[in-house]
Amino acid sequence: PKILVLASGSGTNLQALIDSTRTRDFPGEIVAVGCNRPGAFALERAAQANIPTFVVNHKDFTSREEFDAALLAEILRHNPDAVVLAGFMRILTRDFVRAFRGRMLNIHPSLLPAYTGLNTHQRVLDAGDAVHGVSVHFVTEELDGGPVIAQAEVPVASGDTAESLAEKVQKQEHTLYPIVVRWLCEGRISLDANGVSFDGKPL
Ligand code: GRF
Repeated sequence: PKILVLASGSGTNLQALIDSTRTRDFPGEIVAVGCNRPGAFALERAAQANIPTFVVNHKDFTSREEFDAALLAEILRHNPDAVVLAGFMRILTRDFVRAFRGRMLNIHPSLLPAYTGLNTHQRVLDAGDAVHGVSVHFVTEELDGGPVIAQAEVPVASGDTAESLAEKVQKQEHTLYPIVVRWLCEGRISLDANGVSFDGKPL
């Protein structure tokens, strides 16, 4: 299967996906990387790996609909089977999300459904939670709200800061995301009216 990755920032998850998809038996390949921020380091990582890139800058558009239409047009040129969001910091419109239902993944730095949105590490600390973590989910119309496929936990230690937690969570992300992307490529996970199935069985 052909994977298209969308990123906005430093692209450490993109790097983990590049590295794992380039191992010999990986069942899919990254065909392109799209970005909404010119100059994002994710673009550099893709270029280093000889993966085609494109930029659709949200600042060039007056509405979310126009931005999404331009982004979708670029994506479709690469004819991907799956779209993987890796630190892509734009909220996508309903029609965009529907176009890739069951074929689009996101990774979010919290144990969803807890802590959708931003600043998850600080919010976990403020709440005094003992356990934090990361979730990979199918993208649906709800922000960070699509059905969860897999999670990894990160224990919160006394003395942890938002920065130290971010580091620990990212380490888990770089292990978990390639595993789930592999499952998607192998057709082992799917999304239907009843939610996520793994090997044909509801999760
Ligand atoms: C990750 O923490 C991910 O969970 C969130 O955005 C961050 C992206 O980091 N959605 P990177 O660009 O992959 O380094």
